[in-house]
Amino acid sequence: MRMYDIIEKKRDGQKLTNEEIRFFINGYTNGEIPDYQASALLMAVFFQDMTEEERAELTGAMVESGDQIDLSAISGIKVDKHSTGGVGDTTTLILAALVASLGVPVAKMSGRGLGHTGGTIDKLESVPGFHVEISNDAFIDLVNKNKVAVVGQTGNLAPADKKLYGLRDVTATVNSIPLIASSIMSKKIASGADAIVLDVKTGAGAFMKELEEAKELAGAMVSIGNRVGRNTMAVISDMSQPLGNAIGNALEVKEAISTLRGKGPDDLTELCLELGSQMVVLGGKANTLKEAKELLYDNLHNGKALDHFKQFLESQGGDAGVVDNPDLLPQAAHTFELSAKQSGTVSEIIADNIGTAAMMLGAGRATKDSEIDLSVGIVLNKKVGDPIDKGESLLRIHANTDQVEDVKEKLYESIAITSETVESPPLIYDKITE
Ligand code: URA
Ligand code: CA
Repeated sequence: MRMYDIIEKKRDGQKLTNEEIRFFINGYTNGEIPDYQASALLMAVFFQDMTEEERAELTGAMVESGDQIDLSAISGIKVDKHSTGGVGDTTTLILAALVASLGVPVAKMSGRGLGHTGGTIDKLESVPGFHVEISNDAFIDLVNKNKVAVVGQTGNLAPADKKLYGLRDVTATVNSIPLIASSIMSKKIASGADAIVLDVKTGAGAFMKELEEAKELAGAMVSIGNRVGRNTMAVISDMSQPLGNAIGNALEVKEAISTLRGKGPDDLTELCLELGSQMVVLGGKANTLKEAKELLYDNLHNGKALDHFKQFLESQGGDAGVVDNPDLLPQAAHTFELSAKQSGTVSEIIADNIGTAAMMLGAGRATKDSEIDLSVGIVLNKKVGDPIDKGESLLRIHANTDQVEDVKEKLYESIAITSETVESPPLIYDKITE
């Protein structure tokens, strides 16, 4: 088999065989196929696309390029959740405890945040004592015992994806549905869950800015998951404005606690119920999404989800006292209100810019090695569609400096107020279950 022929075939719009796809992935991962030939194939895929079968085969080959986590020692159907990334997305913290409170095992491998999107591990580490450095055996024991544990990303998961992503980044081939879908799914599948719920974001703060693209990506990932034997569902949700009100690590933990108490922001609560009900159905603990949603709603209001969260924090060394006393979480030295310069209705809160403002305060990493400040961030008092009076607070800034003029300027540029009527954007655009 020759790489030249594979490139030519895809260039001319033909379907690659499973053997050709494996030849490419194996050869590229072990260094036998050079970057220039891999680049040419990526560009051919960019223009000619891949069939569902090719996409699934590509994903499978990437999974097999590295370690695969074995969760078989955990009883029950292990369900994982993945978000394509957003601003102020606190859902994983909430869902871990909420879904586990219905007996669905959540064995979560999570990452740290980069850029304007936050990482679940950073958020959890704002709970004093909480740690994610646990051995594989301890991780499995915890999930069997408490139905939930979170561990840091370890091992050599999908090295083919790592290498290909680096190449795509410099050859203008990142933005391709088959390549994105196989990249994301290869890492999820290698992490060992039996079933996967995807939250594909759309809007300014999302990777897929346009709804049609987000739908296409969601469909591609659901198809790959199901073809490789992992039950997969997706929700397409709004990321034009931040999710919930809090953006910043400790602030989001506080928001997660109020949501688990049944007192969270409406949008965040609703998205957790949607994603959670898919997890519960895939985990075999309810027959329909409606039934699952009712069970989850009950546990948000009867204290069970919150109790489960306390137990989860304690089991990984965290101070569960933060639940009843959130002041034990890291707190910033200063707060500042951002007051509206005019009366009207909030028409825009551009998610990625708000994420950048939080990063300027120190809540996010500019580069992989930056230190972050867990205490700082932003809490919105208004969302799109809310009326506001001149002088009223749009949001509160939590900072460890009193020099926040540049942050305020960025925030003012990112929020629009209009005299016209504005509908709040839909939260869920679509659900893909096939
Ligand atoms: N995230 C990934 O993991 N891979 C992509 O290709 C794009 C976003
Ligand atoms: Ca939030």
